[in-house]
Amino acid sequence: MYRALKLEQHLKLKKTRIYYKREDLSPTGSHKTNTALAQAYFAAKEGKKTLVTETGAGQWGTALSHAARLMGLDCIVFWVRSVYNWKHDRRTLMNLLGATVHASPSKQTAFGRKLLKTDANHHGSLGIAVSEGLEYADTHEDSVYSLGSVLNHVLIHQSIIGLETIKQFKLIGDNPDLIVGCLGGGSNFGGIALPFAGEVLKKKRKCEFLASQSDVAPNLVKGKYEYDFGDVAEHTPLLKMYTLGHKTSMHPIKADGLRYHAAAPLISALRHHGIVKAKAYPADEKAVFEAARTFLQCEGWLIAPESSYAVRATIDEALKNEKAGEEKAILMNISGHGFLDIPAYREKLRM
Ligand SMILES: Cc1ncc(COP(=O)(O)O)c(C=O)c1O
Repeated sequence: MYRALKLEQHLKLKKTRIYYKREDLSPTGSHKTNTALAQAYFAAKEGKKTLVTETGAGQWGTALSHAARLMGLDCIVFWVRSVYNWKHDRRTLMNLLGATVHASPSKQTAFGRKLLKTDANHHGSLGIAVSEGLEYADTHEDSVYSLGSVLNHVLIHQSIIGLETIKQFKLIGDNPDLIVGCLGGGSNFGGIALPFAGEVLKKKRKCEFLASQSDVAPNLVKGKYEYDFGDVAEHTPLLKMYTLGHKTSMHPIKADGLRYHAAAPLISALRHHGIVKAKAYPADEKAVFEAARTFLQCEGWLIAPESSYAVRATIDEALKNEKAGEEKAILMNISGHGFLDIPAYREKLRM
């Protein structure tokens, strides 16, 4: 965890302290390795030979490719086509790690072939890629499906983020009043928020939580709290979540890891009880990429497009707090690095 002193100076903050936890330092560049390693370990222990998965931003696919290689497993990744088409270097990284990567929808599954018949260049979605992965794992021996977000076990693995941060705050004698994270399905947000939220529920601390989303997939902001499927082809069990509907079509964005129709059941429950709040930023992504540039120029780290939503919301909350004039510490989670996302920066900031 770091204190964002240069960012505080740049924003001329007098009352607000900003801290950030870094998950971009993992081998493949994001928080996703926290659960990839655990899931690959248990799959290998159960005698599986192949891990099959979906990926949006590509960070999860890379993390699972890495974990599978370490455990001696094969890895097959169904990657949302709208991202597969521009993140060539991340695709190469997955291939270097030994994974097989298919643009989704693909010709590898009956569901993918059906979608390609209606649109040969279908841009895909996380919900579609999950459907393809589940179908593939179901029809291939010794294969098991591994999901990168949403489900309880994923959030439990990710809670190492918040557990570490609680210890780090103890070391410096401070405490966060507000915790901010970007949210697509909820794994990095849950990872940092849940250990703190547990203490809030036990009345051991006071803290607020804010999820930052895109207007193309504002599941916590505009979704309904009801049972829904986690994938488009309806292979998953029904989950109680804030959802926009599993068949909703959402336009691709550069932070495509946030383009998912529903939020994790654990986060949805906290939202339902008023503990987690959420806000969504415009689909043109200008404001979030500008926040990421400010963060780079102040702190020196190039972050993933998804993480820039956390930075934007943190900056906005800090400026709001300065007007209110309260002493406040804000903690945000930097979920990944942006070294393989340069084309998105170039396009969004017109460079
Ligand atoms: C760097 C990064 N942050 C955040 C997310 C959003 O996922 P989640 O909501 O599960 O944290 C992704 C998803 O691909 C990601 O790659």
